[in-house]
Amino acid sequence: MKKTTFYFVMFVLLGMLMPFNLIYADGSNKIFEGAPCINPPYIIGNYPETTFLFYIPTSGERPMAWEADNLPKGLSLNSETGIISGKVTDAGEYTVTLTATNRLGKDKQQIIIRIGEELALTPPMGWNSWNTFGRHLTESLIMEIADAMVKNGMRDLGYAYINIDDFWQLKERGADGHIQINKEKFPNGIKYVADYLHERGLKLGIYSDAAEYTCGGVCGSIGYEDVDAKDFADWGVDLLKYDYCGAPFGQQEAIERYTKMGKALRATNRSIIYSVCEWGQREPWKWAKQVGGHYWRTTGDIGDHWSNKVIGPGLGVMEITDMNASLSEYAGPGGWNDPDMLIVGISGTSMSIGGNNKGGCSDEQYRSHMSLWCMMASPLLCGNDIRTMSRETFETLTNRNIIAINQDVLGKQATRSIRADYFDIWVKPLSNNEMAIACLNRSDKLLDVLIDSKTIPGLTANAEIKDVWAGRNLGKLSDGLNVKLEPYQCKVYIFSGK
Ligand code: GLA
Repeated sequence: MKKTTFYFVMFVLLGMLMPFNLIYADGSNKIFEGAPCINPPYIIGNYPETTFLFYIPTSGERPMAWEADNLPKGLSLNSETGIISGKVTDAGEYTVTLTATNRLGKDKQQIIIRIGEELALTPPMGWNSWNTFGRHLTESLIMEIADAMVKNGMRDLGYAYINIDDFWQLKERGADGHIQINKEKFPNGIKYVADYLHERGLKLGIYSDAAEYTCGGVCGSIGYEDVDAKDFADWGVDLLKYDYCGAPFGQQEAIERYTKMGKALRATNRSIIYSVCEWGQREPWKWAKQVGGHYWRTTGDIGDHWSNKVIGPGLGVMEITDMNASLSEYAGPGGWNDPDMLIVGISGTSMSIGGNNKGGCSDEQYRSHMSLWCMMASPLLCGNDIRTMSRETFETLTNRNIIAINQDVLGKQATRSIRADYFDIWVKPLSNNEMAIACLNRSDKLLDVLIDSKTIPGLTANAEIKDVWAGRNLGKLSDGLNVKLEPYQCKVYIFSGK
């Protein structure tokens, strides 16, 4: 063999063996190791003349220093904390170059800050209190979750919102016309929690309902939309989940109620993401964006289990997937289908969604659930207790390669190109002419599936393949990729260079 051929072959072989990106395959928390890597989102929307806040998610060893070139007028970066903040007056699209530097190197990344009428240009990421804690939420819980998100590195993978769900309020509205905060749970009020989160570059979500009472039977917002939206903004709230218990069934009434709150939120001085939560009963994918919504539930509540056929209550991951699958045309930057929050790592500990320590999924099933939600460009709102999660749960929630698929700037929801009895194949177009393909084994048996250029339109034999969870380059597609799936496994690949 000629020397040059030998080097070429070695180069290709090494390329195939090397992980193509930093993941945490050996279980240690590698988020704070190695050279810097700036993680998505790479496009951020904010309304003009409202407070802008963005922590630059960056993995790599600390200490770390950040720089930002070409920030729009009104914004500044704290180079030690990595937090960009301020207010921009002029609408427009600003391309900013970020640099993160540590002892071991540098990473540069262009991001777009778009000041205009759209928020949530990629699916929102964060945590919500409901799926594990139900009514048992407190101020200290929320602050501890924030601490955990900073300390364990989830913030550096793009998780930003910490959302207070039902039960932060008292049942009756105060004589002054304002919702009363339950002071036993939040003794220092909501603003105190919001300030704590904002200091860390995190954001606060809150919850209300388009009727007199919420699903949990505490104070809702009907008739007081302007008062409540203003209170939320004054407290520093960044997201509102607006539920629909106790409200009329019809689509028109729902549109009216959601419009009122949508307008009230937009009239505040903050960029508040609006989550429409009427469980997909009135086809919200057709109207929720027009009423100011940034994502809308497409299904009933998720339970902590894989499939309804096995155990209830709540919908299983498979049933929800099937309900959300056909709605991809409605999702895009600024407005997403929401197949409900993640159950990764809840493992039967929920105090709300199928409690009694029943249910739960295997780690493989939770990983597949994460893969599907990323492929479907769903909001990634985890709901497990992130202060105490297992290594497997942590790795499922913090794999930067799968998150990058979710956060891709093209903002496409995957379509399902094959739905067979025991498996699905999903295709998600990505920016840079790449394509993510997921193969899901729905059965409890081993399964072999072939991906080739005949079964997936747009693929050619020349496409280069990366295995997302394994973090490896697999070479060219050639005659096809024979995918071996464990029971309930979902493998995800990126194909590039068609
Ligand atoms: C509804 C919603 C859930 C949760 C509860 C709170 O069921 O769909 O996500 O917010 O209300 O009571």
